[in-house]
Amino acid sequence: MTTKLDQELSQEVSRRRTFAIISHPDAGKTTLTEKLLLYGGAIREAGSVKSRKAAKFATSDWMEIEKQRGISVTSSVLQFDYKGHRINILDTPGHQDFSEDTYRTLTAADSAVMIIDSAKGVEAQTKKLFQVCSARGIPIFTFINKLDREGRDPFELLEEIEQVLGIRSHPMNWPIGMGRSLCGIYDRHKTQVELFDEDDHDRIDLRPVSGYDDEVIMKMAGESQFKQLGEEMELLDVAGDPFDMEKVAKGELTPVFFGSAINNFGVQTFLENFLTLAPAPTPRKSDKGDVTPTDSNFSGYVFKIQANMNPAHRDRIAFLRIVSGKFDRGMSVRHVRVGKDIKLSQPQQFLAQDRDIVQSAYPGDIVGLFDPGIFRIGDTLSGKGEFRFDELPTFSPELFSKVTVKNALKHKQYQKGLDQLAEEGTIQVFTSVGFEDIILGVVGQLQFEVFDYRMKHEYGVDIQMSRMNYQFARWIVGERIDPGKFRINSLLVKDSHGQYVALFENEYAMRTAMEKMPEIQFFATAP
Ligand code: G4P
Repeated sequence: MTTKLDQELSQEVSRRRTFAIISHPDAGKTTLTEKLLLYGGAIREAGSVKSRKAAKFATSDWMEIEKQRGISVTSSVLQFDYKGHRINILDTPGHQDFSEDTYRTLTAADSAVMIIDSAKGVEAQTKKLFQVCSARGIPIFTFINKLDREGRDPFELLEEIEQVLGIRSHPMNWPIGMGRSLCGIYDRHKTQVELFDEDDHDRIDLRPVSGYDDEVIMKMAGESQFKQLGEEMELLDVAGDPFDMEKVAKGELTPVFFGSAINNFGVQTFLENFLTLAPAPTPRKSDKGDVTPTDSNFSGYVFKIQANMNPAHRDRIAFLRIVSGKFDRGMSVRHVRVGKDIKLSQPQQFLAQDRDIVQSAYPGDIVGLFDPGIFRIGDTLSGKGEFRFDELPTFSPELFSKVTVKNALKHKQYQKGLDQLAEEGTIQVFTSVGFEDIILGVVGQLQFEVFDYRMKHEYGVDIQMSRMNYQFARWIVGERIDPGKFRINSLLVKDSHGQYVALFENEYAMRTAMEKMPEIQFFATAP
């Protein structure tokens, strides 16, 4: 029998979209996010997100490093409504020094939007973030931004996406001109043209046409651009990948949209198509099988822990992705790892402006839970029944530092800080085999700074870090592992679970080791 809760759940689940925006710094993520929030009425004026970025989040700033650099260290979550949909954007830090948190946040998303600067193409950070999304097999939507500037040829950009990222593409719309000669975009599916008007960002000028060969387009764009559009469309129709929803759902084909975020051009078309094509909250794997969002039993997992949101209180916020059931403020849930029931009394939801207390939430939503130190990354909470969601992967670090404590008398606090910060996922800790040196591994430089800061301010320990030359880490498994074989341009260490990890100075050293030791298996993430 269908209960009232079942109905409510299926309605709430089907209208939700939870996604992350991935891009390289400066591609336009803040600008696009801001335009999307404007559509949802979540912010009143353009510039709010931007000024937040520049003028240091007054409400959620939690560390001097953020203030000094004018960036947000940790990703936040933005929620807004648009035409009956409830949208959760998982904001990933856009600066160069992204961290493992950025990767982990991607595990909470059901789809991703990839922004590419039309002049720059696929850049380094986009590639890294793409790979994490791609490994999860989630749908990826592409927005090629800054059409108002002279960019690269659209075909060349598509080819780069396919070559560098290894995903097929299907342009949903196509630019008519570019840069100074930008006239509009032709929507291949709705057969309409959106005209570009640099001076009026509020007016969205859509003109229905009979096809790309409609005379109306010639009148708008002029003969040469009309002819070029015709040739390009013919080529796409013949040689391009056809639209295939199944492939989109599996992350094998990316729908591509063109536009200019700053001019609010192509943004609404993108949003509306995205909402139609992107998946509602999807099931998550657990040790007792898949958990579906419409299951009435409440469940979720912690994907991120943010410390010191308020430096005066040293509180922590655990970010919970709701997987199934309904969340009610004050409800009691099972904290599976510690085997205790806990009451979720101070949940917070993250809106564009401030942190609000949440009364109820549904699958796909992210809630922030007050954490007096009881949560770890990957923890499962369940209304009833004991099961655990699959552990979040440990991502392969790329930067390494040897760490020592300056004052030997502080060794106990140092060890405590090291254990806790590793548990929270701030850094990964390794021990060198034979020498017992402590080595920290991170994916972004900022994690070192966060570690140093928190050691000093939370544990009262001054530490010394010296950077090491290693760039790659591979977990290794084999019958006989000989530390002597990891001396040249490499080092053998153990992770916190006692598993062997080999560090390499360069790709060549790593490949050579793999070739010379075929009896050993190498893994990019902890097996
Ligand atoms: P990010 O969050 O991905 O780092 O990028 P952000 O939105 O901050 O945009 C980076 C720069 O690109 C900004 O310029 C922004 O105004 C510009 N931009 C974004 N979308 C477009 C677009 O469609 N066309 C053009 N021409 N520029 C765009 P800035 O000079 O760094 O900042 P500001 O001084 O304009 O605020």
